[in-house]
Amino acid sequence: MKMENLSYREAVEHLASIAGLSVPKSVSFDGEIGRLRKDIYEMNRIAARYFHDILMSDKGKPALDYLLNRGLSMKTIVNFGLGASPPEGWYNLINHLRSKGYNNNQIRQSGLASTSDKGMFDRFRNRVMFPIIDHRNNVIGFGGRTMENDPAKYLNTSENVAFKKGSNLYALNFAKSTKTGSLILCEGYMDVISLHQAGFNSAVATLGTALTLDQARLMKRMTDNVIICYDSDEAGRNATKRAIDILKSVDLNVRVITVTGGKDPDEFIKTHGAQKFAALLTGSVNHIDYRLDEVKRKYNTDIDNEKVSCINEMLGVLSDITNKVEIEIYIDKISKMLNVSTENLLAELNSVKKKINRIRENKQKKEELENLKGMNDKINPQRSKYLKASRAEEDIISILINYPEKYKKVLENVNETDFVTDFNRSVFVVLCEKLEQNTNSNVLHTLSALFDSDKIGKIMSYISSLEAIEVNDDKIKQIATTLKEEKIKATMNGLSINDNDFSSRLDDLRKNRKRDK
Ligand code: GTP
Ligand code: MN
Repeated sequence: MKMENLSYREAVEHLASIAGLSVPKSVSFDGEIGRLRKDIYEMNRIAARYFHDILMSDKGKPALDYLLNRGLSMKTIVNFGLGASPPEGWYNLINHLRSKGYNNNQIRQSGLASTSDKGMFDRFRNRVMFPIIDHRNNVIGFGGRTMENDPAKYLNTSENVAFKKGSNLYALNFAKSTKTGSLILCEGYMDVISLHQAGFNSAVATLGTALTLDQARLMKRMTDNVIICYDSDEAGRNATKRAIDILKSVDLNVRVITVTGGKDPDEFIKTHGAQKFAALLTGSVNHIDYRLDEVKRKYNTDIDNEKVSCINEMLGVLSDITNKVEIEIYIDKISKMLNVSTENLLAELNSVKKKINRIRENKQKKEELENLKGMNDKINPQRSKYLKASRAEEDIISILINYPEKYKKVLENVNETDFVTDFNRSVFVVLCEKLEQNTNSNVLHTLSALFDSDKIGKIMSYISSLEAIEVNDDKIKQIATTLKEEKIKATMNGLSINDNDFSSRLDDLRKNRKRDK
């Protein structure tokens, strides 16, 4: 498993699973992060209850009217646990959570509060609240819709250890038990709720971002068939094309619904009713037909050279199909659509395939080469150039995380100017600041508050590569020496000093160090 490719959660879980083997028992990642995540789920559950109670009280009347006016029944509102954040005040939920025993730090980490220089305040105010529940029934966060014309139409919980927008789908907690054998993928929370209310219980939605590979994999765990049901405007159609690629890449069967007459599924159902939507579902086209149609729209095929481009692009759509019968069917379709002979199309398909394969191979070669050179390390781009130095830096960082009690010893041997790569230096500085205050402090919390999930994943990967060696004072010195030597090399490199000069500088350094002792 490549740690670089893991999400934060996966990285932590992976590390926990190997903790018994090579990660010192003194640090339990799963424990710390897992506990924080559970606290957030619990705070969210309390918040969901709180928002729902407000919706059902006098204060929530405008929000309830809003939802009823949008055609939702009380049953649907209760079923989805919809709520309202308080119309007035800035600290209602914060105070409520405090009254339940949560401290400021926990509340901040839940993403339910925002922070300004004046302190914390409720993130959600005067909005209709949609609790977001994962497929294990945890309340992982919220979407809040303005009832006025706030430029932020929807506001989500900010990303945290419990809420990963790219790894969850709205209403999957309900849709996972559908008997339809497929999932309907929508863009909006309201689309999903409308569809469920109309009896289409397999609808899910992304959480305000473009579809990710993680989400496609999540769907693949539940079903083999996905029907994309995005808005029919240009943005929606572009998103559909991207979603097709992502869903196909995990081997899902993909069909597409084009919602006509009504911008999105919610509006369609309201205007035309459930039966008409069922007809749309029946009439959904498979992703090849959809893409062929999309190509066709782009060109004026009455003009010869546009027609040629159109044919080439359509053949590109077919280039991935391996089934000969399927190829025949689509070649036939294109032939009829554009009035070209199937023989010519087939011959052309082969040359298009060759061309595409060549481009792919070149791309693959380039990627392999870049991987080899470590050029793809986006988090620490200097790593490949200063490999030995960064390994030493990573060992130092791992020691600070795993053996915080060695902090003073580490500082005797290394300081931030010894670091060669900027990313590792920044991690080192953060850790030192924290450990300076208190060597018992929870450095993982600090890291997770300051670095995004990719960076955390990267830092986690250091720990897993710190071998199960006994970290004693000699080892620390040895790593520090390596780092200092590499630092000099790196600096020399920058100044382009020749090897001989370099050796003598190194000797000087070693002598000086002996004299210091
Ligand atoms: P309604 O207007 O309530 O029907 O919403 P919609 O779902 O039709 O809205 P739209 O198609 O504009 O947006 C689809 C989804 O994108 C929403 O459900 C949100 O998840 C997300 N979204 C929309 N507007 C915003 C925004 O201003 N900020 C963020 N973060 N997400 C948004
Ligand atoms: Mn809508």
